[in-house]
Amino acid sequence: MPDLKGRENWASRLGFILAAAGSAVGLGNIWRFPFVVGTNGGAVFVLIYLVIVIFIGYPLMVTETVVGRAGKRNPVGAFQALAPNSPWWLAGALGVFTGFLILSYYSVVGGWSLAYVIKALTGEFTTDADFVALFTGHISLTIAPIIWHAVFMVLTVAIIAGGVVKGIQRWVQFLWPVMAVLIVILIIRALTLEGSGAGIAFLFRPDFSEITARTFLDAIAQSFFTLSLGMGVFITYGSYLSDRDNVPSSAATVVGLDTGIAILAGLVIFPAVFAFGFEPGAGAGLAFITLPAVFAEMPVGTLFGTSFFLLLSLAALTSAISLLEVVASWLIDEKGWTRKSASAVLGAVIFVVGIPASLGFSAFSGFAIPGIGDLFDTYDWIANSILLPLGGLLTAVFAGYVWKAKSARAEANKDHMGMKIGEWYGPALRYVVPLAIILVMAFGIIDTFV
Ligand code: PHE
Repeated sequence: MPDLKGRENWASRLGFILAAAGSAVGLGNIWRFPFVVGTNGGAVFVLIYLVIVIFIGYPLMVTETVVGRAGKRNPVGAFQALAPNSPWWLAGALGVFTGFLILSYYSVVGGWSLAYVIKALTGEFTTDADFVALFTGHISLTIAPIIWHAVFMVLTVAIIAGGVVKGIQRWVQFLWPVMAVLIVILIIRALTLEGSGAGIAFLFRPDFSEITARTFLDAIAQSFFTLSLGMGVFITYGSYLSDRDNVPSSAATVVGLDTGIAILAGLVIFPAVFAFGFEPGAGAGLAFITLPAVFAEMPVGTLFGTSFFLLLSLAALTSAISLLEVVASWLIDEKGWTRKSASAVLGAVIFVVGIPASLGFSAFSGFAIPGIGDLFDTYDWIANSILLPLGGLLTAVFAGYVWKAKSARAEANKDHMGMKIGEWYGPALRYVVPLAIILVMAFGIIDTFV
């Protein structure tokens, strides 16, 4: 086992919450949530998503965090520490691989967001602009989106190279509250647009005829993605957590914030979709098409638009650094790499792996898998519909049966104050969570291809 004496801890309890919320709140809330709600028929999807967040997401977040705190290592090492001489470290390795894959295309979208900062700043959000053409025009370029993808990756590497407290914690502290305020301003604008009511109905009035097995799979994928679950972010961040911190309440805070921000984003985007006559099922471009249209309708829209995409880019960064931290901490703990070389080498490799996802909209736009979509959708589908739920399933089975739900619960309730995890946790971990994931995956995958 590697020597862990020098391992950093968060500088405060708030440090963990902010970094964890920084990981959770990102493109998943503002870009991915509205677009999967839009392609899955609206409110029914939101309903299923909320049920999954509460009954599967929350217990899993607590579980990952305590596996990390008890194991005091990156995902691979944490499983090894809690179940020595067993193949369970493979579950951690799967997480490391998933982080690698997600970051490769997450950075492409982070790059779109950076590009939109410049578009906003240079006054491209005008009332007579064609925002669909603006977006498709950008992503179907060959080189520019790849350069932005590179810029985003360099920023991510720079922060991770700085270390846990100085790098991650310092950055996330002030970023996302500002973002929340900006979203509220945007909601007021969106809700007062003429014809916005249809958007609210789309988001909150379920039409149950829209449900298929695929709806559940998409909802589980979105829940895991947005909460950063199923690939060891919380194992890694939990490993920097001290024994005095209260895990149940920290996790509840993170789940609440993340869900709240997703719903707020929906409250900006859907009223605007309907008010401007956009297509809710437009897919990956939805936020990038509707938000600029809202800014165009605002006084000082250039200022609001620029600040918003700047903050979206920063929110994406605080998620991207958590993805890179999982992979980097594995190289650092297990392979003895220095933090600087681990982050730089990984950043370069992950950048290259992401290039085809970007080219999926230009050079490789002919590529398509029936039921899934283009190259970009394929990355997203493999990572979020398959690997994240699988990672969550393995973590639940591991904690429920191998490490034992009793030990996980005792670890979660170790500090003597604050919120406690109740008796419900054992059965949830051992039966409800694994069974739900297996059923949703099985039927959802069949529904995707048949
Ligand atoms: N939760 C992040 C978001 O919503 C994405 C992410 C997924 C980050 C998985 C880490 C791990 O944008």
